Amino acid sequence: MTKLQNAIVGGVRAVIGQVPASWLPGGTPDPLIDKPVSLGEQQSRVDGPDKVRGAARFAAEVPMEGLLYAAFLHSTIARGRVGDIDVSAAEAAPGVALVMTYRNAPKMSVPPPIGMTNLKAAGNHTLPIMQDPEIRWNGQVVAVVLAETREQADHAATLVRMRYDAAPTARTRFEEGKASAYTPESILVERNRLEKGGPSRKFAEAAFKIDAVYTTPWENHNPIEPHAATIVWRNGKLIVHDATQMIHGTAGSLAKIFGLKAGDVEVSSPYVGGGFGAKGLWDHQILGAAAAKLADRPVRVALSRASMHRLIGGRTQTEQRVALGADANGKLKALLHHGYGVRPLHSICDEGFTLTGRSLYASESFDIVQHYVDLDLLANSFMRGPGETPGTFAIECAMDELAYAIGIDPIELRRRNVATRDPVSGAPHSQSAMMQAYDLGAARIGWHRRVAQPGMRRDGEWLIGMGCASGTFPFMRMPGTSVRITIDAHGNAHVASAAHEMGMGTATVQRQHAADRLGLPLDRLTVTIGDSSLPFASFAGGSSQTASLAAAISAASGKLAAELVRLAGNDTPLAGLKPSEVEFAEGGLRSVAEPARQESFASILRRAGRDELSVVGESGAPLEIMKYSMHSTSANFCELRVSEVTGEIRVDRLVGAFDCGRILNAKTAASQFKGGMIMGLGMALTEETLLDERSGRIMSTSLVDYHVPVHLDVPDIDVLWTDIPDPRTPLGARGIGEIGTTGVAAAIANAVFNATGKRVRDLPLTLDKLI
Ligand code: MOS
Repeated sequence: MTKLQNAIVGGVRAVIGQVPASWLPGGTPDPLIDKPVSLGEQQSRVDGPDKVRGAARFAAEVPMEGLLYAAFLHSTIARGRVGDIDVSAAEAAPGVALVMTYRNAPKMSVPPPIGMTNLKAAGNHTLPIMQDPEIRWNGQVVAVVLAETREQADHAATLVRMRYDAAPTARTRFEEGKASAYTPESILVERNRLEKGGPSRKFAEAAFKIDAVYTTPWENHNPIEPHAATIVWRNGKLIVHDATQMIHGTAGSLAKIFGLKAGDVEVSSPYVGGGFGAKGLWDHQILGAAAAKLADRPVRVALSRASMHRLIGGRTQTEQRVALGADANGKLKALLHHGYGVRPLHSICDEGFTLTGRSLYASESFDIVQHYVDLDLLANSFMRGPGETPGTFAIECAMDELAYAIGIDPIELRRRNVATRDPVSGAPHSQSAMMQAYDLGAARIGWHRRVAQPGMRRDGEWLIGMGCASGTFPFMRMPGTSVRITIDAHGNAHVASAAHEMGMGTATVQRQHAADRLGLPLDRLTVTIGDSSLPFASFAGGSSQTASLAAAISAASGKLAAELVRLAGNDTPLAGLKPSEVEFAEGGLRSVAEPARQESFASILRRAGRDELSVVGESGAPLEIMKYSMHSTSANFCELRVSEVTGEIRVDRLVGAFDCGRILNAKTAASQFKGGMIMGLGMALTEETLLDERSGRIMSTSLVDYHVPVHLDVPDIDVLWTDIPDPRTPLGARGIGEIGTTGVAAAIANAVFNATGKRVRDLPLTLDKLI
């Protein structure tokens, strides 16, 4: 396992943070970084009208002849074996087509896990699925019922009689598991253990010290669309209408699991109703495909909220110790970050919370390591801002505590310590302006109104406070993402890639990009995404998809220019020009030196007797910018009130100021940032998976028990950005999908301290912790 992890880490080292050496034919710098036309505008979503009209078809809505509906029976023990099974009553129930258990399930291989070096896989754990009687977590599917209607399937599932031989012990307690926790060599792309600059001596010498333990709970995913798939086997091919942020990965994994050729699995997922890391390959698609094979009929799997919580991994709980030492001026001398999370050995997800403090502040020394507890639980998984979301809670609350101990403004403490290069490797930043974000945010929220001493502002029973915290998330771009650009006879352009739309505006922004890139107005461009028959795209994750697609479109446009010049031949105003001497403008190509020499796409194609011209471009992985440190950062601000009587917290305002390079579409970006901040708000105030540690059973399997913010919980949110292009990323943009969630919970906890003088170090900040 360690070897496998190292291989993944070795691979990712070579892919993170890279851009092609050149964007345009001839290697000229990309003019779109400085002179965008459509990019940066507030374009509405191209998929908006279809969604509003209900015409956008989601995975559980795809119509199909002869469809059967699946219901799942979940184990009620954490560890042991399935004993006697009696399916006779279920099989005899109205509408039932079959009941599948490990006894009659088709043979399937273990799901190939997603990895940075394996983007053609999407599995989240490495356990066999329904191949043996073993139970490995409380909630594992032990039977699948197929029936003519969903209601019949649900009813019949209640009639399956299953006896369990529970193992004498199951490992379900975090506290107990810590004693035998394991310490991986690497966390994602970094060495786990970091000791640099003599931390114990530096901490001992420090004039001001903070040493505290922070905890964050298990969290479950709750996208608006629960996981679903409509699945059919047709002529030996497996066709899956899925809700996934890993289209090709899902197809690749399913092919391996069922022993099919790569092209024999088709995955289509044009719309996903929210992903956040959860919409990968889990047991439900695999079991659905197996049951469809057994029944020889199409199958729909649409998970209930409860099934979702039992089958789809969430964010592990963490326990983090942060110790900060500073000199008399508030300069950090030592930063210690130790912690525990849960990562069952079958889980492939690193929750790298201790990566957070390695890039933000220029401490003189570091002492960082994290440990994992192996428990008999559902695999933990990626959840918006994995690592940095719980990590910023600990680090940024500790920074607030340090500022208070020293008696300086928390923004000033950050200003004195903000990293001007990577504090660990010494690598220069490609672009970084976190303090500029702080200035923007402070002005917007009116930070001057804050009173440093807690408990000083009040409105009746309400104590009022303000807090701030930094956010951070690394820049990533995946290699291998490809797009096809087709120019048709009318000179319109069509961009296609198996990319993903989970609500973030993928096609909208890449249409803006392609329009600017190809010199076309928006209405002459279409973008098609969401199907495995289209050119390969890596997952929509790690806030990497936009940059990956942008790099691929750039590469394809270079090829397109070369192909058009070749096709144009000699009987053209462009005759004799090299691809590096032309540019896209006004629906065609023109000479850079003599703009009057031009020919339109339509004319070039007509003269060549072509109906269309297609090229494919791929986001490459040159290594030149590995020497730069690249992170999106943010400054989060919160103003809130806490009732002295009930301990209730009401968040009045959130302000997020972001430094994420160039913002490509103000409207979709604002919505990404706000959505991320609302997840941070949920994390701060209410979200907590309740796990019964005696049985390993999740108790909070509905939106009643697991509270995500609703409209009444969400305050006015302002988002701002520095909009400074990063010269080493496609279009100057870094990722924006996950940064919004990071730092929000800390800003809220810090505001609670400012309001009340109570330092709550355990999320969520429920009112029992404040009275
Ligand atoms: Mo994200 S947790 O990579 O969808």
